[in-house]
Amino acid sequence: MLTFARSQPINNNRFTMQYSNALWNPCSQMKDYETFKPLHVIGASGSYIHLKNGQKIIDAISSWWCKSLGHNDPRLKKALLEQVDRFEHVILANTVNDTILSLSEKLTQLTSTLNKVFYASDGSCAVEIAMKMSLHARKLMGQAAKQHFIALENAYHGETAAALSVSDLGLYRKDYESLLFTPHYISSLPYVCGTHDPLWQDCSLHWEAIEKSLEPFIENTTAIILEPIVQGAGGMKIYSQDFLRRLRIWTKQRDIHLIADEIMTGFGRTGKMLACEHAGIEPDFLCLSKGLTSGWLPLSAMLTSQKIYDLFYDDYSAGKAFLHSHTYTGNALAASVALEVLKIFSEENIVFQSERLGKEMLASMYDIADQTRKIHNVRGIGAIVAADIICDGPKRRRGFEVFQKAVERGALLRPLGNTIYWLPPLNMTIETLAKLKNMTRDALY
Ligand SMILES: Cc1ncc(COP(=O)(O)O)c(C=O)c1O
Repeated sequence: MLTFARSQPINNNRFTMQYSNALWNPCSQMKDYETFKPLHVIGASGSYIHLKNGQKIIDAISSWWCKSLGHNDPRLKKALLEQVDRFEHVILANTVNDTILSLSEKLTQLTSTLNKVFYASDGSCAVEIAMKMSLHARKLMGQAAKQHFIALENAYHGETAAALSVSDLGLYRKDYESLLFTPHYISSLPYVCGTHDPLWQDCSLHWEAIEKSLEPFIENTTAIILEPIVQGAGGMKIYSQDFLRRLRIWTKQRDIHLIADEIMTGFGRTGKMLACEHAGIEPDFLCLSKGLTSGWLPLSAMLTSQKIYDLFYDDYSAGKAFLHSHTYTGNALAASVALEVLKIFSEENIVFQSERLGKEMLASMYDIADQTRKIHNVRGIGAIVAADIICDGPKRRRGFEVFQKAVERGALLRPLGNTIYWLPPLNMTIETLAKLKNMTRDALY
């Protein structure tokens, strides 16, 4: 998710020789591990990761934003083991099973309009499915001109080719331009620092300019794709719910699909089950992953409407089937955990817990800003807070320094460049948050 540029080693956790073994870690400059070796994990429970050196560190980023119910939840373990006893994986083409049927039913209850669920394993794949389905639907509707996508500036939708194409983070896409297409990006977004920001309720001035900028693209666009309300990898930037609401009306009136990538924001992260709820909207395509299994197993889901489904429904000879597939589509082990996640969400009111924890998180981050004077632009919604580290030079990797210091103090923060953020398990206790606050504050000095 984030590459760290070079910096001075600041601890004694240092390698003197070239870091070398068979593993190539994701999203890493491997040479960085010479100065700060990877944390050797031997266990994890609740909000903590247990390291081989005896340290227990707080997982302040929910292990890339997926461990919404924390690590090693006993109910999820039980659900998984029960499914292991039944069967682990069977091809999902030409078969069904109780687990996947129940999960699909439950997922359709998340919205009032999306009643068809298509599965994959990773978030990026769910995004690709939504994009392909939107394009394919245009072909089936005889709308051949509608071939293009619109995305938001600063967006991130994953690492596979189409998902990366609609992303706007040069760090991840610049070396692969020849493989990618470039959508139109909506710019000058009405960013806010929280729901109390006046722009949250009314972004009419921004909207006027945005609406005008979209006019040339109406005829050729099949879909607008966006991360509703919070752009994660782009720096935990929050934008106005009024913008999302207006954009949804605009797309509906012009027969342009809306793809909501809720891979990070879904499952209670923003204080609502889905971030789209902040704007009172529902998209044409909804992508879910991460919190779907609370980070136990890779699973993603793409939901759409009966209207889209019906376009593909015909005799085989009509050649209209959506023939996309992945080997592990709808994996039964992952599905059994996801089903239990949904039960826990409703029985333990996790969305409410997220909102309550988030209020404390935001207050704590403001305190840190006041006490240290080392961060600014504090922002937050639900159980997400972020702030930008004040840097004395544009090239200084303060984020990487803070990361190392925080680990030594007992917290896994993984700043996005020089933006620090907390995105912890939604059920993290207030006591653990208090510890995280002290560790983060100390790491900033
Ligand atoms: C909004 C969003 N979309 C898509 C993805 C890609 O998901 P995955 O890494 O599971 O492919 C991510 C990953 O962080 C994400 O935050």
